Amino acid sequence: MKYIFANWKMHLGIRESVALARAVMQTLRGEDDMPQVVIFPSFTVLNDVRKVMARSRMKLGAQNCGTEKKGAFTGEVSAHMLEDVGCQYALVGHSERRIIFSETNEIVAKRYKTVLLESKITPVLCVGETLVERQADNAQGYVSEQIVSVFNGVRIPRQKEVFIAYEPVWAIGASQPASVADVVSMHSFIKELVKKLTDVADNRIHILYGGSIDAKNVYAFLREKQVDGVLVGGASLKVKDFELIVKSATDVITAQEL
Ligand code: 13P
Repeated sequence: MKYIFANWKMHLGIRESVALARAVMQTLRGEDDMPQVVIFPSFTVLNDVRKVMARSRMKLGAQNCGTEKKGAFTGEVSAHMLEDVGCQYALVGHSERRIIFSETNEIVAKRYKTVLLESKITPVLCVGETLVERQADNAQGYVSEQIVSVFNGVRIPRQKEVFIAYEPVWAIGASQPASVADVVSMHSFIKELVKKLTDVADNRIHILYGGSIDAKNVYAFLREKQVDGVLVGGASLKVKDFELIVKSATDVITAQEL
């Protein structure tokens, strides 16, 4: 299986989100060998997008999730609330949360554990090094710290799968993505690390790449067996580009079945 995750970030209001979800659904109709498509809209439009996608194979995800179960936490949205509105996935620790909103590894670990253990939602842990760390030849060390702080001592429930999105900070919204070779090598490193830290089997660990993915470059990533999918930002807001991205995934799935 390949996974195409669309992170709409803070770009669209209700009308635009509903229109985009409808358009994306139209383009996916009738495809066999489809990848699993998950849309991550803003909190305020989750319910509207859920209604549009109700009878499709697409799934719904949230861009973040509160650390607490319930109570006096003004401005927070809990895992239960996200479950209630139909989310099956939630991003945790996106670099924009870490850098712009000062989320530490500890906060991210807390969010991850809340989603993992207190709800039916699958958390998607986002990790990735900054340019400074890459230039200092410490990309693996940095990513390793982000992962260890989340998985150390955590038991992954049987019904849950592990999803990690590797998004090098310097490749997000950039002129080009990381190289396929670097991504393959980081994905292998991440998978081995997660296997060491948890007792989760290989086929229940999914590593996605994110950072300047578009219709032209996506195939080169998806055809690698170490790349289980992609987390797409900018290109997921353009129907034609997103359609071509999903089509590339379909082509890879078909080719790999032959
Ligand atoms: P871009 O695809 O716009 O580079 O964004 C990547 C991202 O941050 C997805 O979460």
